Amino acid sequence: MTDALWYFGRGTGLVSLVLLSVVVALGVGARSGRTAFGLPRFAVNLLHRNAALLAVVFLAGHVLSLYFDPYAQLRFFDLFVPFGGAYRPFWLGLGTVGLDLIVALVVTSLLRRRLGARAWRAVHWLAYLCWPVAVLHGLQTGSDGGTWWLRTVTAACAALVIAAVVWRLTPAFARFPGRAPRRQPRSASRRELQEIR
Ligand code: HEM
Repeated sequence: MTDALWYFGRGTGLVSLVLLSVVVALGVGARSGRTAFGLPRFAVNLLHRNAALLAVVFLAGHVLSLYFDPYAQLRFFDLFVPFGGAYRPFWLGLGTVGLDLIVALVVTSLLRRRLGARAWRAVHWLAYLCWPVAVLHGLQTGSDGGTWWLRTVTAACAALVIAAVVWRLTPAFARFPGRAPRRQPRSASRRELQEIR
């Protein structure tokens, strides 16, 4: 049973990292206002949101299975308070920082209408911090950090995210008309109002 928890914890950790990388790339695609990856804009937005929620589900599996795995020696507050763990405290703590950031991103996204766009966007920038923190945690905490396959998957995730961020930073990214601020709806003229009456 302990072995099963350990395998499950490692597997879900890796899937979470892959999903997080896809979420960052889709987030950049959604922000671009373009059709991306051959998909219409609404589909890019939907995929971004649903991939983020799926990542949260896998993360919950990762954290809970390792919480019950005696080898990791996690206490309940290690899941939310970083750097106090018994097992590789710094690298484990980075995972906790990543989880805290993801919780903040998800909660503010669910409350987006109440918070307003400016506050939501300020928190959403943290996604760029969350990703490298999660990568370092995965490479340095896990039993598989030294294996070729974990490094290959991590390198592929890094290539995807770096490509998306480089694209985000190019001047051409901002020039697309789909990103232009929307005009306020024009109020009806007096003549139009008379015609309606
Ligand atoms: C952004 C959130 C997180 C991501 C993306 C993530 C991802 C990963 C990955 C990829 C691994 C390597 C698995 C392997 O070696 O096969 C790992 C290992 C591990 N993670 Fe996380 N993790 C996150 C958050 C957390 C949190 C919050 C905790 C608990 C406080 C945690 C505890 C662990 C432990 C104990 C290991 C070592 C498992 C082993 O024995 O190999 N992780 N994580």
